[in-house]
Amino acid sequence: MNTPIIIVEHLSKVYKSDLFETVALADISFEVKKGEFLAIMGPSGSGKSTLMHILGGLDQPSSGKYILDGKNVESLSDDDLADIRNRKIGFVFQAFNLLPRTTTLKNVMLPMTYAGIPREKREAIAQKYLEMVGLGDRLSHTTNQISGGQQQRVAIARALSLDPAIILADEPTGNIASAQAEEIMEIFKDINEKGHTIIMITHEPDIASHAKRIITMKDGKIVNDVQNNKEIRYQHKH
Ligand SMILES: Nc1ncnc2c1ncn2[C@@H]1O[C@H](COP(=O)(O)OP(=O)(O)O)[C@@H](O)[C@H]1O
Ligand SMILES: [Mg+2]
Repeated sequence: MNTPIIIVEHLSKVYKSDLFETVALADISFEVKKGEFLAIMGPSGSGKSTLMHILGGLDQPSSGKYILDGKNVESLSDDDLADIRNRKIGFVFQAFNLLPRTTTLKNVMLPMTYAGIPREKREAIAQKYLEMVGLGDRLSHTTNQISGGQQQRVAIARALSLDPAIILADEPTGNIASAQAEEIMEIFKDINEKGHTIIMITHEPDIASHAKRIITMKDGKIVNDVQNNKEIRYQHKH
């Protein structure tokens, strides 16, 4: 439980265009240990999504080091990175990103199809995770026949399908009514208790309060890091 699964050192990300240079991340360092439930908060534009894209291997930093489960991500080939991304990380997005007009079961099976898991096995696994998120009676419903909260639960089941060590969620309750958002948080707690590390971006304090640790970002920096109500680090910005 105490090994860091994520180590980030002096990470920066600068978006450059002909006219502008935007510093999205400015020299960020932190660690996440296995089994943590971490919320990343901060106002719009503070760099949360940029950080999540880098943690998920969907984007590269401009400088700094990112070590994922003991591997320096920079040194990985594209194939190895894609492989690690598929096996180690499950993504949950604000907009659910499900296939439209497709059953919940098929949606959850999709990553397993790409991973080459045989049909019967992936069907059984998909059913298991859909039952876990309370949708055992919605296996044949298509995504347009269920509510937003239910769609997000399908996305969570899909994220879990390859049993990833880490779940990365970017504003998972951003498009969901608050009662359903609470249900999503109960599921995240449950998943976390089963051993999955969760990193969840949110700008809502109610949602963040479900996490065991809260990092707050501002202007591309970490300005606060609180675990079990104790501040474990604070960076002053001068
Ligand atoms: N692809 C991009 N190209 C240029 N600038 C970007 C891009 N993505 C994000 N940014 C900028 O980087 C900063 C951080 O954005 P983002 O990580 O999306 O913040 P948050 O998720 O906290 O709202 C913002 O100023 C944003 O405009
Ligand atoms: Mg964002």
